[in-house]
Amino acid sequence: MRGPGGTLTFWAFLALAEELTSHYMHGTIFTLLKRYVQTQYDHSTWVKLLELSGLSARDFNHKEVYPDEHMYALIGQAAEMTGIPAGELHEKFGEYLVPDLMYMYQKYLDPNWRTLDMLEHTENTMHRQVRREHTENAPPVLQVTRLNENELLIDYVSSRRMGGLAVGIVRGVAAYYDEADRIDVMPTTTEDGERVQIHVRRN
Ligand code: HEM
Repeated sequence: MRGPGGTLTFWAFLALAEELTSHYMHGTIFTLLKRYVQTQYDHSTWVKLLELSGLSARDFNHKEVYPDEHMYALIGQAAEMTGIPAGELHEKFGEYLVPDLMYMYQKYLDPNWRTLDMLEHTENTMHRQVRREHTENAPPVLQVTRLNENELLIDYVSSRRMGGLAVGIVRGVAAYYDEADRIDVMPTTTEDGERVQIHVRRN
């Protein structure tokens, strides 16, 4: 796509720049977002959300990957439609994701783990496996420091700035292990940064 004289046209340049800078997210996350909206609201809400996000008639497949921008557009529009802040939606969606993620990656789970052990091992088990299966995916780096038997610190690092999703996933993991009422999840930094710290304590 070159203009007269062999120069890159403006639009081709933009497309190239987008290609080089955008990241792609696992289709599973999109198919679960679709199901979340369909079950919490209804199918027509999902269709409206797609339209408002400029993705009309788009279907998502769990075997493919899609640009992060689609996720930002969908969550941003959902926040406008519902009046619920995007950060809060990220959290709710994160909680919802957990049972399916656990099911999909169950062979990497140790049956003796409870909430804190699972969080401690996510990075070297589940997220490592995601990276291995799909080189184009980039789950966040979770640096987890186990402070003692009942406490740990998660350092979430991702240019996607989805710390809210991380907080929601932690709550979802606690619910999965039936420990929701014993586990305190305390973000100690704002949730929309590239580095978010989450303190998790079992009472
Ligand atoms: C059963 C356990 C888990 C599985 C199977 C899992 C799997 C995944 C997958 C498939 C993605 C999409 C990656 C991509 O498309 O690049 C992802 C993203 C993500 N995961 Fe996990 N995950 C698990 C646990 C966790 C936990 C415990 C946290 C938080 C403490 C977490 C935080 C996130 C966040 C925030 C993202 C969004 C992408 C980003 O922020 O860069 N995950 N995970």
